[in-house]
Amino acid sequence: MGKNRLPFALSVIIIFVVLGAGVGFSGISSVVAAAEKTDVAAQTGMAASPAGGAIAFNPPAVQDAPASIRDAVMLGYNLMTDTGKYAGQYVGNKLTCSNCHFKGGMTEGGKNGGLSLVGVAATYPQYKKRQNYSVDLVTRTNDCFQRSMNGRPLPADSREMTAIITYYQWIAKGLPIYAEIPWLGVKHLKSAHKPDLAKGKQVFARKCALCHGDNGQGTPAAPPIWGNDSFNDGAGMRKRENLAAFAKGNMPKGNPDLTAEQALDVAAFVAAQPRPHFAAKPGSGAPRTTSLLSSSQLAPGAAEPRTPQVKTTPPRVPAFADRSKIPASGKEGPPAEAATLIGSWKQGKVLFDRHCQSCHGPQGTDKVPNPGSEDGTVPPLNPIDPGLANKKPSIFAANIDRIIQHGSIPDGPHPALFMPNWGDSRSLSQQEIAAIEAYVIHLNGVQRTKKE
Ligand code: HEC
Ligand code: HEC
Ligand code: HEC
Repeated sequence: MGKNRLPFALSVIIIFVVLGAGVGFSGISSVVAAAEKTDVAAQTGMAASPAGGAIAFNPPAVQDAPASIRDAVMLGYNLMTDTGKYAGQYVGNKLTCSNCHFKGGMTEGGKNGGLSLVGVAATYPQYKKRQNYSVDLVTRTNDCFQRSMNGRPLPADSREMTAIITYYQWIAKGLPIYAEIPWLGVKHLKSAHKPDLAKGKQVFARKCALCHGDNGQGTPAAPPIWGNDSFNDGAGMRKRENLAAFAKGNMPKGNPDLTAEQALDVAAFVAAQPRPHFAAKPGSGAPRTTSLLSSSQLAPGAAEPRTPQVKTTPPRVPAFADRSKIPASGKEGPPAEAATLIGSWKQGKVLFDRHCQSCHGPQGTDKVPNPGSEDGTVPPLNPIDPGLANKKPSIFAANIDRIIQHGSIPDGPHPALFMPNWGDSRSLSQQEIAAIEAYVIHLNGVQRTKKE
């Protein structure tokens, strides 16, 4: 392809001016720098619309955005290229969006372009037939925050998310809504080759380790590709076919020369290495993980299913974005329906492991650090605060239900973690909450039964 125009010039300028030269992967060979300079020169003959009404790649420069949106567009661009600096609290690794969406996605994708984002604003919302729900760009962007960046979702109405969406919108300027945009997406390699891990390991040592480090941990020349500081196991890049296509088109950076077989082998090897596990993190209303069990599976006393079925539900409203709706210190809202239902603790355990364990620890036993809160940790639930426990299961359930329904923000200057409002946000159904409550009560040695 190689006809990336304006964006390269622009990002060179911005990266050097805004971030300062030498920050980031300064090792990115002079090959790339040279290519960028050529692009600057090639710019003057800016894209004319090709004949036949085909879609032309011709995104406007960020600094040309009208004054009314320029700040947002610039912030959006900065968020893409230096995500940790501009949205650190939502990022859980050492990557930036631009490590995969090169130049903030202002490329034509394909060879040396990474994954383009030019025109995404014209192609969303997308209706996913298989999952039976539609995905908008906020959700899709948060997907990359939670998986590719191993972080947590941005509130839909945050300044940062607004900036990112405005940026997508600006760089989609002139593209027809719902056009087929040829440079978007990952084009999987057509090859019948069966990936070979041992060969992939050799390819890695010869062609990747130099920049990404012997253990994939990253070096000043390139970001980590596995381990704690990389994308998690729920990320799109973890999928072998995506990784292979990306590597074939872009790696080694600046001078991609892998054969399809080498790309598939090395992708299989990299995908098999350890990395963070994807779990919906605090603050997440992640639609893909909310409701795991159908209500029939939640029937009281039913056996714990071996493999919980993932139920496809429409996305719920991003859950805990609005902190103002959460009472200041718990115990304020009344108990709701769940407190009157008899749940099965075995079902509750499955849900607890998925939704609660990240903050309260396995079986609710941990004191997870909570910087910025008065207590310094999230309260353990096992054993639970004696003020909440009760020998009578109905009272015990009502005590904890108030907090689980409505959430609670710990006292302290700015607590990093707060208790989400699972009921009010409808992140969990009343049946599901009842099951979780039965489990928490069970952990504390009381059984949730009708007979009291
Ligand atoms: C580790 C690589 C990686 C990083 C880092 C990353 N993404 Fe992605 N992103 C992907 C992949 C791979 C896809 C396509 C996945 C697929 O098609 O299944 C994607 C897709 C997207 C899409 C949808 C594009 C389309 O054509 O539908 C958006 C929007 C997006 N990413 C935004 C972001 C933002 C914003 C960030 C930073 C907060 C980010 N990504 C960070 C790998 C990454
Ligand atoms: C010359 C140095 C260099 C070499 C060699 C290299 N890469 Fe990269 N790679 C980079 C840089 C730099 C980036 C980030 C690109 C950016 O920010 O523009 C990157 C990004 C990536 C990413 C996405 C971001 C991440 O960290 O997950 C993957 C995956 C990747 N490389 C895989 C590979 C594979 C596989 C090989 C070997 C076939 C390889 N690279 C060889 C420099 C290199
Ligand atoms: C994002 C982190 C987070 C998640 C996830 C989370 N909690 Fe909490 N939870 C907290 C924090 C922080 C508190 C303390 C709130 C306070 O001090 O006001 C808390 C308090 C509680 C309390 C009151 C405990 C006490 O001693 O005051 C209960 C009960 C509780 N959570 C249950 C749950 C259940 C059940 C789930 C899963 C459905 C869950 N939590 C998920 C962070 C979390």
